Amino acid sequence: MNDPDIAEQLVEALVLPDDNPVEGLVRRPVHTIGTGVAGYFQASPVARDYCTAEHFQGKQLDVTVRFSNGSGSAIERDGWSDVRGMATRFHLSDGGATDLVAMTLPEFFAPTPETFLEFAKEAKPAPCERLSPWRKIVDFLKLTIPMPDPYPGQDVRPNEGAIRFADQNKFAQLAVLQAATIGAPVSYERASYHAVHTFIVTAPDGTQRWVRFTWQPIAGVQNTTPKDPIVDTYLKEKLEECLDKGGARFSLMMMIGELGDDFNDSTRAWPPHRKRVMMGTLTLDKKIEGADGDLEKISFNPCNLTDGIRASDDPVLKIRREAYEYSSKRRDATPCPFSGS
Ligand code: HEM
Repeated sequence: MNDPDIAEQLVEALVLPDDNPVEGLVRRPVHTIGTGVAGYFQASPVARDYCTAEHFQGKQLDVTVRFSNGSGSAIERDGWSDVRGMATRFHLSDGGATDLVAMTLPEFFAPTPETFLEFAKEAKPAPCERLSPWRKIVDFLKLTIPMPDPYPGQDVRPNEGAIRFADQNKFAQLAVLQAATIGAPVSYERASYHAVHTFIVTAPDGTQRWVRFTWQPIAGVQNTTPKDPIVDTYLKEKLEECLDKGGARFSLMMMIGELGDDFNDSTRAWPPHRKRVMMGTLTLDKKIEGADGDLEKISFNPCNLTDGIRASDDPVLKIRREAYEYSSKRRDATPCPFSGS
């Protein structure tokens, strides 16, 4: 059983000062700005050989997806460099659901809830300023890469604290360095999204495999050009344009872990030559009518899993179950179907 206190502390540590600009409206503390779409998932012919879960059996299932900017700011800054999220709910035939919550970073910042809490406190957005050219020259002479200039209108950011933390904690380095240079996608459907943790899938013959999932965009990955002027709001519009032109498509790739790979620590990458299986294709072709209001009330949970797929012993994945439930209650969202409330 997880410590519910640490789940609450984690959520409270993630809340930003501008979390609540509209009186009485509590929003997600991270991934605050988002947009939803619907469509269907079609498993590949081999998927059922690896996993008995219903969404891998070959019958087309309806899905709901919420794409998001990773930031906890309620101000839409689509053009800023940021991690993006893709939370997918597969609707099962008995009225239940199974979720897959993914983001554009392939690894996480910390191996345990306790170390993530330390990270969240240290990486709290702090005032930032444009460095003078002299200061940049001094930094170069000291062989220190100067911090990038803030975006117009950006007066706080998490980068300085996150980098300081990564300097002292090797486990955070991979994710922090990737997050610092991740950029902005030209559209939500032009990014790869990773579920990051390890899950355990059971095959029809009872074989269990330790796996990691990634959504790969069929149109390919493409970022904006950093030198172009920054646009604040375009991601929702681009996604809708794509739906009007026939829809967005993603392949669901499953990487199979081997002995020696880290199954319970999502800060650690697996060797790139691990076997991958294409588990199916997601087609997103519908807007969600009345969208933002309704979708803002949905709560995804990475531990909302159906039979045939279960969470590994990764302690960060386990604590996310309570953290997301706490956050969902905090913002008065619709309870996740597996929470029983
Ligand atoms: C201990 C680690 C983590 C904590 C405490 C945490 C916390 C949260 C919280 C509180 C929310 C808002 C939930 C809600 O109100 O519905 C959220 C949303 C989200 N998180 Fe995490 N998170 C963690 C790790 C991760 C990881 C590893 C990923 C990537 C796989 C991730 C991806 C997302 C995404 C995509 C959303 C938006 C979901 C939506 O659209 O509703 N998080 N996170």
